[in-house]
Amino acid sequence: MTRRLEGKAALVIGAASGIGKATIIRFLEEGANLVLADWQAEAGATTAAELGIPFIATDVSKLADVEAAVALAVARFGRLDIMVQNAGIYPWQLIEQTSVEDWDRVLGTNLRGSFIAARAALPVMKKQGSGRILYTSSITGPHVTSPGHGHYSASKAGINGLIRAAALEFAGYGITVNGVEPGNILTEAIQQHRSPEFIKGMEDAIPLARLGSPRDVANAFLFLASDDAAYITGTTIVVDGGQLLPEGADFRIMPDRR
Ligand SMILES: NC(=O)c1ccc[n+]([C@@H]2O[C@H](COP(=O)([O-])OP(=O)(O)OC[C@H]3O[C@@H](n4cnc5c(N)ncnc54)[C@H](O)[C@@H]3O)[C@@H](O)[C@H]2O)c1
Repeated sequence: MTRRLEGKAALVIGAASGIGKATIIRFLEEGANLVLADWQAEAGATTAAELGIPFIATDVSKLADVEAAVALAVARFGRLDIMVQNAGIYPWQLIEQTSVEDWDRVLGTNLRGSFIAARAALPVMKKQGSGRILYTSSITGPHVTSPGHGHYSASKAGINGLIRAAALEFAGYGITVNGVEPGNILTEAIQQHRSPEFIKGMEDAIPLARLGSPRDVANAFLFLASDDAAYITGTTIVVDGGQLLPEGADFRIMPDRR
């Protein structure tokens, strides 16, 4: 079996847990060399030690931090083939309760951080004449939303705009830019903080009748990072078990069969 990322150098930002950690594991399985970046110094270092890869404490909203993470990948592996900007925060907050500072904090991580990731990866990838820049967007914002997700929705819709603009600007340098839009993913955090009843309610809204796993999202990242996606740029892949499809709540053809 060919390992699809054999010898590729990759940096994943926001990978101490959840989707980012699963992406690192998936990329390692396919032969990539990884650097793990996250702003949680202790959790990030623990995950990196568990996976046997280098860790760098990185706040994605700070250009100098992300440049240092890129520099670490280049120092270790001599290049940077794949940058995944997955760091994101999703506090539940109605717009009328959201202060300007709250807004800036969410946009600062999710959207400003995504711009910074592109800005920091560009010089190295441009020099190489190749590279993949990948983002974790969401179905929330670009397609749907719910109360309490104003800043989050704006940030993820903004990421999709950035993906298209960067794809166009970087195409001439041999760099592609794409994203993944997860639906509801069963991460450790959701398992810890949500009741089984709440999770069951979420499952009922999903045609494939389960939440996604972090690995489901990692598999989409793997495809976008691999040679198979060489001709794909400026787009996103929805990974949501069909959640965006129904016109209304009553969508099961066999309501008793889940
Ligand atoms: N879980 C879902 O259902 C879901 C759905 C759609 C999109 N997403 C997106 O997936 C991404 C990963 O989320 P997750 O669900 O795995 O949650 P998570 O909280 O487990 O992972 C997010 C990681 O980003 C890190 N992070 C947060 N702010 C950071 C910063 N400023 N700098 C560096 N690292 C930072 C966190 O420490 C954490 O390790 C996020 O962008 C989130 O918006 C998640």
